[in-house]
Amino acid sequence: MRIIFLTSVLLLLFSGCSQDKKVNNLDGKKLLEQKCTKCHNIDLPPKTFKDEKAPAMMAVAFHVVHFIKTEDESQRIPKAIAFVKDYVINPSASKSFCDKASLKTYGIMPSQKGKVTQDELQAIAEYMFSHFTEKNLNEAQLLENKLNAMPKGERLVLKNGCLSCHKVDKKIVGPAFRDIAKRKGNSLAVLMHSIKNGSKKKYASSKGAVMPAFKKLRDADVKTIAQWILSLKSQKDKK
Ligand code: HEC
Ligand code: HEC
Repeated sequence: MRIIFLTSVLLLLFSGCSQDKKVNNLDGKKLLEQKCTKCHNIDLPPKTFKDEKAPAMMAVAFHVVHFIKTEDESQRIPKAIAFVKDYVINPSASKSFCDKASLKTYGIMPSQKGKVTQDELQAIAEYMFSHFTEKNLNEAQLLENKLNAMPKGERLVLKNGCLSCHKVDKKIVGPAFRDIAKRKGNSLAVLMHSIKNGSKKKYASSKGAVMPAFKKLRDADVKTIAQWILSLKSQKDKK
């Protein structure tokens, strides 16, 4: 669940800066997902598994860009793209930039001849070298660290879109979470009930706006969220 969420945040982040240039209207990202994820993990930051079939795509892109030989730096990406177009059809141990130990573990990549065209590979490779960059990796890692450092309740609130109507310290559509926490009679059970079933006309400040029911949230998550909201009561004011 968290991975799915992370991915969508990352997509939001990156859709603005990775220019997905389309080759003949081919979508490199989609093609990569269709044709390469059977073996290569495409998460950013990359995930590695115990019985993975191939190195993560981040590692592949990194290898190819950094190890390709070129006198002229402006040719680095075009050469990297040409390498991918050739390698996927005609892979070999002597061409691979993988170290010997990895090659032994994974075996040489099976040729994908007949499964992907040169135009599709052009689109895939262009996407690879605009998406799996050090800059995007660093940003993704920072975001992941930030999310990991949050209390779980806060992460759930972010993930479930509560922040479109609530802030910790300030009323927007709904009351500030801190004011909810401080309201007399608001126990864990009361908050859990309101999150699950919604609430209306309880807060004069919300001027008739309604708290929608979140029936689909798991009880355990509702509890974690309600506990987090209540914990804000005793927290010192912060910005
Ligand atoms: C059936 C599994 C499989 C599929 C599908 C697959 N690969 Fe691979 N790939 C591998 C393995 C295993 C390696 C590592 C061994 C090697 O370098 O040949 C590899 C290595 C590579 C390399 C060389 C990496 C390096 O560091 O030198 C590139 C480039 C590559 N893959 C691109 C792709 C692209 C692009 C696709 C989708 C069109 C794809 N692969 C689909 C298994 C696969
Ligand atoms: C569409 C806007 C909206 C969204 C989205 C929303 N809320 Fe609310 N929320 C409100 C409003 C408006 C109120 C005040 C309703 C009232 O006056 O009874 C409220 C009230 C509450 C209360 C106080 C209930 C009580 O009994 O005192 C809690 C707790 C709460 N929201 C939690 C959440 C959580 C957690 C989420 C996300 C899962 C969320 N809200 C998403 C608008 C929203």
